Amino acid sequence: MSAARAAAAHRAPDAAGDDAVVIAPMRRRHLRGVLAIEQRTNHRPWSLGLFLGELRMPTSRCYVVALDGHRVVGFSGLMLTGDGGHVTNIAVHPDRHREGIGARLMLVTMRQAIRRGLQAVTLEVRASNVAAQSLYRRFGFAPGGIRRNYYADVGEDGIVMWAHDVDGEEYAARLDQLERSLRVPLRTEGVFL
Ligand SMILES: CC(C)(COP(=O)(O)OP(=O)(O)OC[C@H]1O[C@@H](n2cnc3c(N)ncnc32)[C@H](O)[C@@H]1OP(=O)(O)O)[C@@H](O)C(=O)NCCC(=O)NCCS
Repeated sequence: MSAARAAAAHRAPDAAGDDAVVIAPMRRRHLRGVLAIEQRTNHRPWSLGLFLGELRMPTSRCYVVALDGHRVVGFSGLMLTGDGGHVTNIAVHPDRHREGIGARLMLVTMRQAIRRGLQAVTLEVRASNVAAQSLYRRFGFAPGGIRRNYYADVGEDGIVMWAHDVDGEEYAARLDQLERSLRVPLRTEGVFL
C-alpha cells in the first residue's frame, strides 16, 4: 500500500471520504487551507498576498479548490492571457495524492479554459516532477521547450508544456473520456463549465 493510500485508510473519522470531494471556486476563506498545502508541496511556496492578488483579478484568473467537507484538499489556478492560458499552480494535500483529485482539478481547469475561449494552455514544471508531468500528459500537454535553470534555487530546469487546440472537438472528447475514466465522479459547486 502506498503512503498516500495508507494515510487515506487511516484518515480521521470526520473526513467524509474521496467521493465527497467537490470542486468549487476558490474564496478568501479557503486560503488558510490552500497555504497549508502550498507550504507542504511547493519548494517556493506562494504567499498569502500572492493568492489574494490572484483572487482580485477574476476576469483573468480562474482558481478552484477541492473541498472535502470544509477542508481544502487541493487547488489549481489558471491565468488568461489573450487566446492563451497558463496553469499557474496546482497541488493536492500530500495525504490525498493518487485519489484522482489532481485529475478532477485539471478537468475543471481545462473546461474553464475552454469556456473562456482559450485555444492553447501552457505551464512550467520541474524536470524532476514526474507525477505532475504524467498528469499533464493525460490532459494533452506535451513538452514545448526547456527553461534552463528556471528553478535556480534548486538548480533545476523547467519544462514548458503546451496543450494546443483545446477549443476543438477532439480535445473536448478527450476531456469527456478522462471524466468517464475517473474512479470517483466529478462533483462541482458554483463552477460554470
Ligand atoms: C501533481 C499532483 C497535483 C497530482 O495530484 P494527485 O491528486 O495525486 O493526482 P491524481 O490522483 O489525480 O492522478 C492523476 C494521474 O496523474 C498521474 N500521476 C499522479 N501522481 C503520479 C505519480 N506520483 N507518479 C506517476 N504518475 C502520477 C497518473 O497518470 C495519475 O493517474 P492514475 O492514478 O490513474 O495512474 C500532486 O502530486 C501534487 O500535489 N504534487 C505536488 C505539487 C506539484 O508538484 N504541483 C505541480 C507543479 S507544476
